[in-house]
Amino acid sequence: MEGQETKKRMLSGIQPSGDLHLGNYLGAIKNWADRAEDYECYYFMADMHTITVRQEPADLRKRSLNQLAQYIACGLDPEKNVLFLQSHVPAHAQLSWVLNCYTMFGELSRMTQFKDKSSKHKDNINAGLFTYPVLMAADILLYQPDYVPVGEDQKQHVEITRDIAQRFNSIYGDVFKIPEPFIAKTGARIYGLTTPGDKMSKSIPEGCVFLMDKPEDIARKFKRAITDSDSEHCVYFDREKKPGVANLMNIYSTITGKTYEEIEKEFDGKGYGVFKPAVGEVVIEQLRPIREEAERLIKDKAYLNDVYLQGAERAAYIANKTLRKVYKKIGFYQI
Ligand code: TRP
Repeated sequence: MEGQETKKRMLSGIQPSGDLHLGNYLGAIKNWADRAEDYECYYFMADMHTITVRQEPADLRKRSLNQLAQYIACGLDPEKNVLFLQSHVPAHAQLSWVLNCYTMFGELSRMTQFKDKSSKHKDNINAGLFTYPVLMAADILLYQPDYVPVGEDQKQHVEITRDIAQRFNSIYGDVFKIPEPFIAKTGARIYGLTTPGDKMSKSIPEGCVFLMDKPEDIARKFKRAITDSDSEHCVYFDREKKPGVANLMNIYSTITGKTYEEIEKEFDGKGYGVFKPAVGEVVIEQLRPIREEAERLIKDKAYLNDVYLQGAERAAYIANKTLRKVYKKIGFYQI
């Protein structure tokens, strides 16, 4: 990446908390491959964040590798992006401790995610859940990024990161770049096939198309997709009256590039019995090469390990520079 200093830097973390699905793909990941043209991109699997809720160790270990394979299969090229695992770069934990001492109890208490998660996991309101945003601030500030692409639910975390950085800079001078949240060019917003009022989610697997689903499973899920109860069975776009049909049209349109008008014409007089499997078919063909590539990569553990190893090396190089500066500024004795 030397000689590309003019590119702005972007960094984002992804929780290896489950299998990727069509909503993740069409809504976000699909657009990431192109970003590397314009930005210097860092992505890491936030395994340290996942343990704020209890994890099965074997699952976490497996997901950390599988998810890397899936991202690469979606087009995230390890040659063009720095891909790494959070726990492989100790500077995250190290800076996190320091920043804990520059973050106020009160401001952490006000974080909506903490309030949500502590009400959901009443039996495990651990300190990590509380200081989660501090680790996230460390993740970000170590790399001095210009932008942090996040979804709506994570914006408050970027805000607190900016507050912490500003507080630190106001004491010690310009140590941290103040990052901006990056609101991605909106990908498609995909809803659950059985719950067209809610975003597609892995918690409702029957309405959720996973990237690793076999073609026959995808076909079945689309055949069972909720449309509506009107008897005309007519394919037209009306988000209010026909949310299920609108969702399917959106999926079809995003993949094929066809407009809603073209789709209405294509299925004019054909009914849902033809429309639903047709959407399933384009999804199957879109996901087939991704699944096959991910399956191939998962078998090539040596390659994935090497991606993680090289990613961690490149990441640590930048992260350690920031950490050394911080240690020096706060008065940790250097030898
Ligand atoms: N908290 C983010 C999420 O749940 C994941 C994350 C961890 C992250 N560290 C980050 C995102 C740093 C952006 C930057 O989605």
